[in-house]
Amino acid sequence: MEQEIANLLKKTLKDLDVDLKKEEIENLIEIPPDNKLGDYAFPCFSLAKKLKKNPHEIALLIKEKIFNKNFENIEVSGAYVNFFVNKKKFAENVIKKILKEKENFGKTNIRKKEKTMVEFPSPNTNKPLHLGHLRNMSIGESVSRILEFNSEKVIRTSINNNRGVHICKSMIAYKKYGKNKNPTKKSDHFVGDFYVKFNQMVKENKDYERRAQECLQKWELKDKEILDLWKKMNKWALDGFKETYKTFGIKHDKEYYESKIYKKGKEIVWEGLKKGIFEKKDDGSISINLEKEKLGEKILLRKDGTSLYIVQDIYLAKLKQEEYKISKSIYVVGNEQEYHFKVLFTILSKLGFDYKNLKHLSYGMVNLPEGKMKSREGTVIDADNLIKEVRDLVKKELISREKISKKELELRSLKIALAAIKYFLLKIDAKKDMLFNPKKSISFEGDTGPYLLYSYARASSILKKSKIKSNEINFKIKNIQESELKLIKKLSQFPEIILNSYNTLNPSLIANYSYQLSQIFNEFYHSSKVIGSENELFRLKLIKSFRIILKNSLNLLGIETLDRM
Ligand code: ARG
Repeated sequence: MEQEIANLLKKTLKDLDVDLKKEEIENLIEIPPDNKLGDYAFPCFSLAKKLKKNPHEIALLIKEKIFNKNFENIEVSGAYVNFFVNKKKFAENVIKKILKEKENFGKTNIRKKEKTMVEFPSPNTNKPLHLGHLRNMSIGESVSRILEFNSEKVIRTSINNNRGVHICKSMIAYKKYGKNKNPTKKSDHFVGDFYVKFNQMVKENKDYERRAQECLQKWELKDKEILDLWKKMNKWALDGFKETYKTFGIKHDKEYYESKIYKKGKEIVWEGLKKGIFEKKDDGSISINLEKEKLGEKILLRKDGTSLYIVQDIYLAKLKQEEYKISKSIYVVGNEQEYHFKVLFTILSKLGFDYKNLKHLSYGMVNLPEGKMKSREGTVIDADNLIKEVRDLVKKELISREKISKKELELRSLKIALAAIKYFLLKIDAKKDMLFNPKKSISFEGDTGPYLLYSYARASSILKKSKIKSNEINFKIKNIQESELKLIKKLSQFPEIILNSYNTLNPSLIANYSYQLSQIFNEFYHSSKVIGSENELFRLKLIKSFRIILKNSLNLLGIETLDRM
């Protein structure tokens, strides 16, 4: 409505020779403190100078020129033009627009077809994915969908950090304790067990740290035995990830592998050394001095010539631009790597790679009520186990509610569990650290994914029960009550919420909106009879609109809906 008023005012003001931007007008529009003064008000003070008239005269002029059937009344009071919205017209318009545009309602094409790469979750191949990766993937997928909804072309990518000292650690432990065995459990978990084992080994004998470095040197020199073992264990890790991605609903358009790109990164470092951007230290290591940027000194190549994690990223950034001609590159990575990305972006610009559109989408830690996660000590919350645990809780709940076939139980429990996890992880602003509480996440009441699914299913069930099956978009509202109007106002805000979350890459705005919307829907549902009421047709259309918008919101969060709960 506000937008509509802004549009109207823009046109009217243009007739008066005042050229204001729509946003400027929107910023001026107020909601009067007393509804006797209308639903919206436009103050004319700021126009006085330009039009050389007093604000009251200007308000009268505007009122005279404006005509629109969506307003019950437009009045002038002092320096203000007051707009009284025609509630029924407003409601009809919102609903008609939603029913007509359906899943396209709220779409924009500001940066149509722009290519954006979104990188997530980029795991290390020495251990399985954990709860932090679930937050990462929830954010990465949701942000990708939000960009797509706003007409961008998204390339979902991931870099597999499959070489480095940490990878060698799992290998060393396997060499000692693995006895050449094949995985006896999900293969990435099998690999992860050896990573934990290694860290116990080091506690007893510090020399293992040195051996891990030595193993990396050998790997870089293509030592056959090391390379074979690495290939084998890497495949186990990657196969395992693939399965978890599939369960979680993640698909990549392109996967990169550090093992294939780190050398090119080294070449860039050597070139940079020649150009004097990097320096060689007395011990033979190569580093960059970033004191001026207050980023200290950063080593790129160790004294034994092996390369550090950042080196691959220098080349990867270039590769992404060259391969995909992207106009934006988003890295979804935890906030403990904020320094890494500051250094990376600084180095890139020093090297003359002028990418202005690199963004580290940083997010906070996720902990469980029981405490901090540490992957080295094996106290980390494993992603697969967590999904299973939440799913088991959901199954229990479903079984206690109704008789349900085995097949249906499997299907529904997974969808509900994923909704629970994703929603819980997305509703908190990504920047903040958070606690993930599995029990709370699956509650069918309160600010949870299952509650949203439940609201959706409820709307579906009413539509199914009604005998009126009309797809006609046109209809008239006879009378409208407060709870209906509240729901319609909320529905009408969807485009604004989307735009905001798009501009700030913030899925939590959509998550919170979905919850508020569902609450308002449930209030309406409890206060109004739908089937058999004289307003049945209007109410059905309202419920249909709610269903479209909630589905759309959930879809942008990567959450699938269910028609039955
Ligand atoms: N593999 C890294 C880790 O687990 C994250 C990689 C992030 N992406 C990047 N381009 N550096 O910590």
